Amino acid sequence: MPSRLIYNIGQLAGVHVATQPLRGPGLASLPGIDNAWLLIEDDRIADFGSMSRTPPTAGEKTDAAGGIVLPAWCDSHTHLVFAGSRESEFVDKLKGLSYAEINAKGGGILNSARNLARTSEEELFVMAWTRLNELAALGTGAVEIKSGYGLTVEGELKMLRVIKKLKERSALAIKATFLGAHTYPPEYKENHQGYIDLITNEMLPVIAREGLADYIDVFCEKGFFSPEETEAVVRAGMAHGLKPKIHANQLNLSGGVEVGVALKALSVDHLETMDDTTVATLAGSTTIGTLLPTAAFFLRMPMQPARTLIDAGCAIALASDFNPGSSPSGNMNLVVAMSCIQMRMVPEEAINAATLNGAFAMSLGDQLGSIAKGKKANILITRPVPSLAYIPYSFGTNHIAQVFINGEPI
Ligand code: NIG
Ligand code: FE
Repeated sequence: MPSRLIYNIGQLAGVHVATQPLRGPGLASLPGIDNAWLLIEDDRIADFGSMSRTPPTAGEKTDAAGGIVLPAWCDSHTHLVFAGSRESEFVDKLKGLSYAEINAKGGGILNSARNLARTSEEELFVMAWTRLNELAALGTGAVEIKSGYGLTVEGELKMLRVIKKLKERSALAIKATFLGAHTYPPEYKENHQGYIDLITNEMLPVIAREGLADYIDVFCEKGFFSPEETEAVVRAGMAHGLKPKIHANQLNLSGGVEVGVALKALSVDHLETMDDTTVATLAGSTTIGTLLPTAAFFLRMPMQPARTLIDAGCAIALASDFNPGSSPSGNMNLVVAMSCIQMRMVPEEAINAATLNGAFAMSLGDQLGSIAKGKKANILITRPVPSLAYIPYSFGTNHIAQVFINGEPI
């Protein structure tokens, strides 16, 4: 059995055995061992302990040189399969246009959809593969990836087949989400039911038959999908065994949180726009609230009310929302830093939300997201840093020294 000992770990953090996402005060607890070792056997965490107890011998040895070892980031919300960048819209926004105005001009998601239609499955795969490997080097070990730039039967299936190929070829843990209901294609602008029928009758049966998705997502937002339309699409997906993860309350109090909670969504994501009622609704549910601070930052929107959500007892995850329109970065180190700096999450909360709770938001909480015997050895090692808090504090510097996925260095 191939084994590897990682020794001289300054701090082994995230030592949790949790069967549920962390919430409330529990989110701030990040148990660890100072001056530690970690033993990997095959692709799993086999054991760990203090350097004061003689570490076991192993086939391979890795000197952590006093760095911090954490579970690799679990990025539970991305759109990392896309065809072209959208920096011209970025410049338009700098000159004063809003996200909604850009969408109304046929930009935004529809711009990405036109790019995607011109791009072959092979080209898309190569671009997504490159992005995925860049994220792995930044410490990401699990990623959820959405469709939603196809908006036709052919385009959505093309995206989902790319994600399936990424799942097959990459060592990272990957989950696929069908987001056909990302926006209405122009030809269905006045015929919403026609597009919902296309999703229900033409897209979902093929997706189910080919096993192309784990989750169903809808952009529940004013000017996109209403709560009633969201429910219709989600129910159609659920009928094919897909669990809901919903884009909710990004730009408005869209009703997305209420629909998500009512349908027992695994997560409701974004949550820039919340009031007392929606916070209470989420807190009283098992649905995870996934916050995407880099999207709020990039769109110059108020940050998600992380403190209010945590203090109300909501289960919170953090994700990158990596996409060409509202978060052209998938760097989870930046997500963690921004959550501390702009949303006042303490470093322990941010790390838990970006690891264990992110894993739960991908139904992988029993496999990933913490340092526990038997879990997959997806871990990151930082360069020697003075403390855990130094990681978000010194934002913008890459502190990742090494990343192991399934026990193998990348
Ligand atoms: O999560 N909000 C909807 N979807 C994406 C943005 C998509 C785009 O602009 O391309 C998001 O922010
Ligand atoms: Fe998104």
